[in-house]
Amino acid sequence: MTLVERLTVMFLKKLMQRPEGRAHFLAQVADAENNDEGQVFAALKERAKSDPELHRLVARHAADEERHAELLNARALATGVPRPQVPDSLKILHRLDEALGGFFRQPIQSDEDVMRMYLLLQVIEERAVTQFPMFKVALAPVDPESARVFEQIEADEERHLKYCQAIARRYAPSEAVHEQTLQHFRKVEWKVFAQNSNRNLKHVLDHGLVPLTLLERAAWRVVSSISTVLDPSRPTAFTQSVRQQQVLAAAL
Ligand SMILES: [Fe+2]
Ligand SMILES: [Fe+2]
Repeated sequence: MTLVERLTVMFLKKLMQRPEGRAHFLAQVADAENNDEGQVFAALKERAKSDPELHRLVARHAADEERHAELLNARALATGVPRPQVPDSLKILHRLDEALGGFFRQPIQSDEDVMRMYLLLQVIEERAVTQFPMFKVALAPVDPESARVFEQIEADEERHLKYCQAIARRYAPSEAVHEQTLQHFRKVEWKVFAQNSNRNLKHVLDHGLVPLTLLERAAWRVVSSISTVLDPSRPTAFTQSVRQQQVLAAAL
């Protein structure tokens, strides 16, 4: 684990201690699973009307994400506190959409549009696969049932990642365009994720959702105020390009 990942787990363990903290966390992940990705799937289903194989994969992927949101919303309700409204400023996919020039609402017409949308879904799945192991570790001591839900969902996200990789390649006009777009989306997502994590830390501290001593609170506020400088980009484990992976695999 990197230092940032250790700090994340340490903070998440604290956040999970109170029902209010768990409800905020679970509602936030549930919103990202369904409401936000829902727009992307609606546009993809429209494009896939003339492509039965693509339609089948999009429909299954969308249904999985809806089910994930239901499972996570049920766990938010199980905390026993009212489900919090997640502020728009903390919705990662909205921020990602803004950073990419607002393409969630653009029609998907060409094969390259399908590739771009699936590469965007791919970087979202790469983030999920990177984060979920930390969520499970943080939840297990206080809410093992929610940790089990993340365990189930994680297996689906790994499958989704494979769909995204396969479909994006199938619709790519060339290897170069695929690679360039993927690397661009990753860099944007890493930056947006770091900014959103920082805003979320500030929100949680400001709303007293995490039980901290005065000293701990002051320390996390310092982390919050300097983290955008220290940690302007938060890469996932998927930092190597496919070409680099192919070269490495051939060399072994
Ligand atoms: Fe999901
Ligand atoms: Fe997924």
